[in-house]
Amino acid sequence: MSSLTLRRFTAADVDAYLAVRREGLLQDADAFRVSPDDDDAFGLAAWRERLDRDYVIGIEKDGRTLGIGGFARIPGAKTRHKGLIWGMYVRAEARGSGVADAVMDALLDYARGKVRQVQLTAVAANARAVAFYERHGFARYGVEPGSICLTDGNYADEMLMWRLV
Ligand SMILES: CC(C)(COP(=O)(O)OP(=O)(O)OC[C@H]1O[C@@H](n2cnc3c(N)ncnc32)[C@H](O)[C@@H]1OP(=O)(O)O)[C@@H](O)C(=O)NCCC(=O)NCCS
Repeated sequence: MSSLTLRRFTAADVDAYLAVRREGLLQDADAFRVSPDDDDAFGLAAWRERLDRDYVIGIEKDGRTLGIGGFARIPGAKTRHKGLIWGMYVRAEARGSGVADAVMDALLDYARGKVRQVQLTAVAANARAVAFYERHGFARYGVEPGSICLTDGNYADEMLMWRLV
């Protein structure tokens, strides 16, 4: 039986990374604050740079990426004690299997010793994601009303969450 592989994705993995990310942005569009057009506008060169600058984890099985997630340190002398968890996505077939846990554990392990605290946002109505983050020790500290304008024109609130690492 083949096993799961967890590894850092870098600029060299940009195609595999963006393919999975795009699936998420299309299939779970209401869960994300960015659209596929935003990703296209960002451009391949900027994505390569971001993958090398941030810490992006991918979990694969038989060469197929099942889950991704990223950590970025917030810049600035007064804010560099904070990190951001971004771009969490697990393919539907791998949800509830521990893949998301492995991604989050890897990101938090990496963050330890580099930052004091990490933050993230989730669409407030995305109960599964909010429950997942709470299980990983994130607390709610606010809600941004109408943060995202969804494709149907409705507005979605975002849950602001944080935890010490
Ligand atoms: C968010 C995501 C990464 C979590 O990964 P996952 O494998 O689904 O997470 P898990 O199954 O380990 O945990 C989900 C938790 O929500 C619970 N849950 C499932 N459906 C739920 C629902 N409709 N309402 C509330 N809780 C729910 C599960 O019981 C589980 O909690 P528990 O482990 O304490 O029982 C994944 O669902 C995903 O990629 N979703 C689509 C994209 C997305 O929302 N990304 C996050 C953007 S902020």
